[in-house]
Amino acid sequence: MLNLNEIKKPIAAEIDVFEEKFKASMQSSVPLLDRITHYIVKRKGKQIRPMFVFFTASLCGGINEATHRGAALVELVHTASLVHDDVVDNSYQRRGFFSINALWKNKIAVLVGDFLLTKGMLLSLENNDFELLRILSNAVKQMSEGELLQFEKARRMNVDESVYYEVIRQKTASLIASCCACGASSAGADAETIEKMRLFGEKVGIAFQIKDDMFDFGTDDVGKPLGIDIKEKKVTLPLIYALNHTTSSEKRRIVNLIKNHNEEPDKVAEVVKFVHQTGGLQYAETQMQKYQNEAFEILNTFPQGEARTGLEQLVRYTIERNK
Ligand code: IPE
Ligand code: IPE
Ligand code: MG
Ligand code: MG
Repeated sequence: MLNLNEIKKPIAAEIDVFEEKFKASMQSSVPLLDRITHYIVKRKGKQIRPMFVFFTASLCGGINEATHRGAALVELVHTASLVHDDVVDNSYQRRGFFSINALWKNKIAVLVGDFLLTKGMLLSLENNDFELLRILSNAVKQMSEGELLQFEKARRMNVDESVYYEVIRQKTASLIASCCACGASSAGADAETIEKMRLFGEKVGIAFQIKDDMFDFGTDDVGKPLGIDIKEKKVTLPLIYALNHTTSSEKRRIVNLIKNHNEEPDKVAEVVKFVHQTGGLQYAETQMQKYQNEAFEILNTFPQGEARTGLEQLVRYTIERNK
């Protein structure tokens, strides 16, 4: 099993600087805000996005001050998106603890998300990092569109696999893609290289969200609620496959459970069991590997070395991780 701390080693010093910068970038003179950001910083996530920024920069010319600002920016945007996402998903657990909306309610969580997002944008503006800002603003736009598209499809219980990929490309892969584009851009790479890195990040991001969606059907503690996607009527890949590979009467029965009994834990468990038995998880695994391989193909066009190895391991970690 790949260990994130091992993967991090070549950029460990950079990550230390990042953590300080990230913390400092959230400071506020409003005591309530300061308490909340303190709570957020104490329960840090995997920090996979800053790692992508550093390794791609390192691969494309070298890490510099702009790379560091890019890393802080992506983690601020990511954190803001999680705070908002937990409101949208009615989720009360994040990173093994209570979510912001669970502790301080939706109204405050919405404002905290806005604060974090704006802090990220200001950090770039104040340093004239217009290219980084352009890349990230585009990702933020797509993330909102992705979540809204998902909402629209959830209402109609749409089970089209291509729509699923479009949703996750927008809501998740766009940010990881922008991490890789930001890293390359900060290192002074040319437009073609930046685009190659962006596409690499997009493939990784799609694999990343497939993995996340698989967690929801599992029983392992991943630090956030399980079965919540079905409860929220989110139709993800394992379920889509299962619904499209069963009899029409069984499909009707399962759709009815999700539509009308989604608040009942035993009914959600029944849907989860159906997805397992119909091979939905196995299928999602093969699709995830397909995107992983496409990411590797792009990566292989770059010169070998410590940075490329770091990215390779991060990609492997993306699909092997247990949280
Ligand atoms: C969670 O992202 C949101 C998704 C896109 C699935 P991470 O799994 O990277 O979250 P943290 O930062 O490590 O908690
Ligand atoms: C990813 O989707 C959310 C964002 C892109 C912010 P999920 O809703 O599946 O993410 P988790 O599972 O809550 O982390
Ligand atoms: Mg969520
Ligand atoms: Mg999820």
